[in-house]
Amino acid sequence: MIQIKHIQTLDGTHRDLSIESQQEISIEAENLLLLPGLIDPHVHFRTPGLEYKEDWRTAAQASIKGGYTTVFDMPNTIPPTVTQLELQKKKDLIDSQLKDVKIPLRYHLFFGADKHHLGEIKKVKGQVIGIKVFMGCSTGGLVIDDDESLHAIFKLAAEEDMLVAVHAEDEHRLKENSKKIVLPQPYAIHSQIRDEKAASIAVKKAIDLVRLYGTRLYILHTSTRQEIDLIAQAKMEDLPVFAETTPHHLFLNSNDYDRLQGKAVMNPPLRTTAHQKALFQAIREGVIDTIGSDHAPHTIEEKARPYGACPSGVPGIETTLPLLLEAQHEGHLSLENIVDLTSRRAQEIFKLKPYADYVLVDLAASRVVNENELKTKCHWSPFAGLRLRGWPVYTILNNHLYDLYSLH
Ligand code: DOR
Ligand code: ZN
Repeated sequence: MIQIKHIQTLDGTHRDLSIESQQEISIEAENLLLLPGLIDPHVHFRTPGLEYKEDWRTAAQASIKGGYTTVFDMPNTIPPTVTQLELQKKKDLIDSQLKDVKIPLRYHLFFGADKHHLGEIKKVKGQVIGIKVFMGCSTGGLVIDDDESLHAIFKLAAEEDMLVAVHAEDEHRLKENSKKIVLPQPYAIHSQIRDEKAASIAVKKAIDLVRLYGTRLYILHTSTRQEIDLIAQAKMEDLPVFAETTPHHLFLNSNDYDRLQGKAVMNPPLRTTAHQKALFQAIREGVIDTIGSDHAPHTIEEKARPYGACPSGVPGIETTLPLLLEAQHEGHLSLENIVDLTSRRAQEIFKLKPYADYVLVDLAASRVVNENELKTKCHWSPFAGLRLRGWPVYTILNNHLYDLYSLH
């Protein structure tokens, strides 16, 4: 039995919590806050094929350390998850890696939309959390850059009641912008090549397809004010459109290239401070529903390559909650906002079965992000050295309590 005594709840009261368990643990939790186990709707845990960057052994530990008990993984692996067979193989690999570390992390998989395998989508209905559409190229070769395929996917998804998640950057705009560029270039050019317009063109197109077919649409990593305006309009029309943002778009901006160099390169790219402000406001107004860490590890050596050879993506699952709690300290977000972003809205949008998973948080803990303490295989963070107030202390997954400061 796990007994948690006098824990603080969101409504400001204290309560005791008992959980049936093999463990015999009693915790005096007067200084801790009880939150639901976090759900990360957007991770790249790299299995199969890219396990030198991350695998589910290290990623499961990183998830638990970050307070996460459920994750949704993306299909841009090697090979990509675009057939029913690859989906099954991926699940088997994940299950075996999770078994190795004895962490029964809850997970769902996105299925990759691929022009040559659209027929596979129907086959995996009920086995995936949604269909991932890369409207612009990113890590891996998946892209849907023609209207005919886009229409076919949105129509089919609506008929099958499957959710479509879009990486909304317009491939034609990205290609057009990169034509003008001659390498070498500073990393900051990334924000100009993958400009705001590339994002808003794609979001507008995706929302127009919802108007046509009624597809349930999840917009990944919203990063600009223009996207927010389009999403707000769609919500006013009562369209089934939902939006995610990321910790890096909330807590970093295009001034950070000088300091972070290749570690600031990700897709969509960093934007200006005005967009950061707009994202916080969109959370407070309920236009943005969720936060996805977009945990996308690459090795430190890969990130040190010059622009053009440096892969896009940053790790994030261990720092998302402390960043949000720091924002709460500074008055930008409420604890209610944080619960909405990290579990409540994902639960609703993706119609998840509720579980009695929890994370216990010490709001007063003030710690510096230390790369040596990270569980992710890549062992770096764009937030290294940052002092944050509010850290998870215990994660409870499937009736098991993990003490986050003695995880090994
Ligand atoms: O920065 C990114 N990294 N954006 C993506 O769309 C993919 C991801 C990755 O897999 O590395
Ligand atoms: Zn991603």
